[in-house]
Order: sequence, then C-alpha cells, then structure tokens
Amino acid sequence: MKKVVISTGGGDAPGLNAVIYAVVHACNKRGWEVYGSRNGYAGFLDIDEMVRLMPRDVTEIYAAGGTILGSTNKGNPFSKPVKNLAGEVQIIDISDTIMRNYKRMGFDCHIAIGGDGSLEIAHRFAQLGMNVIGVPKTIDNDLLMTDRTFGFDTAVSTATNALDKVHSTAKSHDRVMVVEVMGRDSGWIALYSGISGGADVILIPEIPFDLEKVCEKISDNELRDKDYSIVVVAEGARAEGGSIISKGEGELGRQEVLLGGIGEWVAQQIRNRMDKDTRSLVLGHLQRGGSPTTFDRLLALRFGAAAVRMIEAGTFDHMVALVSSRMTAVPIADAIRNRKRVDLASDKVLTARDIGICFGD
Ligand code: F6P
Repeated sequence: MKKVVISTGGGDAPGLNAVIYAVVHACNKRGWEVYGSRNGYAGFLDIDEMVRLMPRDVTEIYAAGGTILGSTNKGNPFSKPVKNLAGEVQIIDISDTIMRNYKRMGFDCHIAIGGDGSLEIAHRFAQLGMNVIGVPKTIDNDLLMTDRTFGFDTAVSTATNALDKVHSTAKSHDRVMVVEVMGRDSGWIALYSGISGGADVILIPEIPFDLEKVCEKISDNELRDKDYSIVVVAEGARAEGGSIISKGEGELGRQEVLLGGIGEWVAQQIRNRMDKDTRSLVLGHLQRGGSPTTFDRLLALRFGAAAVRMIEAGTFDHMVALVSSRMTAVPIADAIRNRKRVDLASDKVLTARDIGICFGD
C-alpha cells in the first residue's frame, strides 16, 4: 500500500489530464491511494487544496485540455514572494513547511509533472528527502534527455492549422504574414509547424537572423510570381546583434520574463524595408489549449503509467523519458541541466533548407 501525491506545475500543456488519468488508474490497480495537490504545491500548505483522486474522478479526462488540478508558474516554494506588514515584497523559503507536511500527510512519493522550472523545484525537494518522480511537460519541447515532451505535438498541430489558414488570406492580399509562435529558448514549434505549414521563412532562437536575408527571400518569391510570403517566428528569436523582445518586467513570483512582440517587430522591419503590405499574428496561448492529439494522449498516458512503475522500482529523483520510442528513467538533474535546442545539423533543418525555407542566415 502506497500513498502517492501528484501535482501539475508551470504553464499548462495538452496531455496533463491524461497523465493524471494514467497515474490514478495504475495506482488504483495496485491498491495505492492517489492525492492531487491543487495549483502546484498549494495542497502541501492547505489541506483543502489536497484532493483524493479515485478512478471515478478522472473519467474521460484523458481527452480534456488543461489540468483538473490547476497549475501556476509563480509557485516556487524556495523563493516565494510575500508582502510584509509595510506592504514590501519579501522572498521567503517555505520548502521546510512543505517537506514537513509531505511527511505528516504520510506520502510515499510525489509525481511532479512539469517543465524545466517545476522539475528543478522537484529535484530540490528530492535532495531534501522527498521521493520524487518527474514527468516531462512543455509545449516548447525543450527538456533534455527525452525525445519529446507531451503537449508539443498538439501545439505544433494547432500552429500548422493556423498557418494553413493564414496562407489563403496572405495570398488574397499579396501580403507578408508574420506568425509568432511559442518557444522561449528553442524553436521546435516554429520549425515543425513552419516546415509542415509551408512557411517561407522560419526564425528560431538558435539562429540569430539577418533581416536583409529575410527580405531577400520575400523578394525571391515575388520574382517567381509568388506575391505573398509566410514568416514563422518563435517568441524567443532575435536579430543578429539584437536582443530578445519581452513585455517588460516579469510578474511577481515568476522567474522568467514574459516574451512577446517579436512578430510585430519583424513585420514592421519588413514593412520599412520593402514597402510591402505586412501583418503579424500572435498564436499565443491557443497553442496550449484544447484536447491533446492522439500522439500526445498516448505519450502522456505512457508517461503516467511508467511513472507509477518507477515508484514500484524505487527509481526516485528521476524523470520518465521517451528515448528511441521507449519509456526510460533519466536523472532529473540531467534533464534540467540546460535547454534542449534545435540541432542545426538535424535532418529537419536540412529538410527545411532543401525545400527552400530561409532561416534568416
Ligand atoms: O513554457 C511554455 C510557455 O508556453 C512559453 O512558450 C511561453 O513563453 C510561456 O509558457 C508563457 O507563459 P504564461 O502562461 O505565463 O503566459
């Protein structure tokens, strides 16, 4: 008999509920109890935020977007901002309270579903003695040690569908359409959707771009009687010698700045240089919403079930990973060491170049 707690942290991603579904069922089959901590670690601080999860509570949630547990990317218990009586913000560490409550509540282990930020927090708890298993989530697909994170396939499919629609309007008006997609540190969504969605230009964080090259590609199109062009740009991309475009100060309690605006900036630069009708479009959180694709559902269900098998094997402070189509356990420390970036020598990048896509280099 084991008592397992599960939490979902960071930005949501399609497939979170499918992981929860698999964990609840796989634990129930073994006669174990499962609890869900709402909004990241809130359940460890307030018993009302800790919910018992039975198979009847997760009926058909594998197909639903979002997370039934809620999530936050402002919930780092090691550096939590609180206002003191004078109204000033102080950063406090509440990890010891969480460790104490984890033990008091009698949990045997914690399945933490998250991206790099949430898994880093989980790893720190593992170092304090919590039995942690990580499950790799992010639409950005930028976690090391796993071929895929769940959520990515759905985001790519949403972005590709959007590009398909953008084509017809760009063509009707002989316009350049610049489509901004998510991808803070890596250009996976831009690359996969751009290739599949017929982009002329793909701009990714891994390749600082030269606007002259982007404009050359648009002019080349016109020389070949294609009077419209599609540019896909990842939110974390930047021009050579330029910097990342953000929405100013980060939010309180959030480690990263909010990115956004590169699409409109690129559109303006093209307009200035080419006197060409240019519009920008930000896909934003559309990419995080909706039902997971079959690929993501299956991957998330496999991750959830494999995480429970890892509990059985006692493989803690590890993350379940997809490596060469198989479920594998990898140390969380290795997965969060850095971001997984697009390999510029990979066949996807070569394919893009071979079919005439410009990376602005
Ligand atoms: O990490 C996933 C991600 O979707 C990033 O691509 C994006 O920059 C960020 O989350 C947006 O987060 P928020 O939900 O705070 O707007």
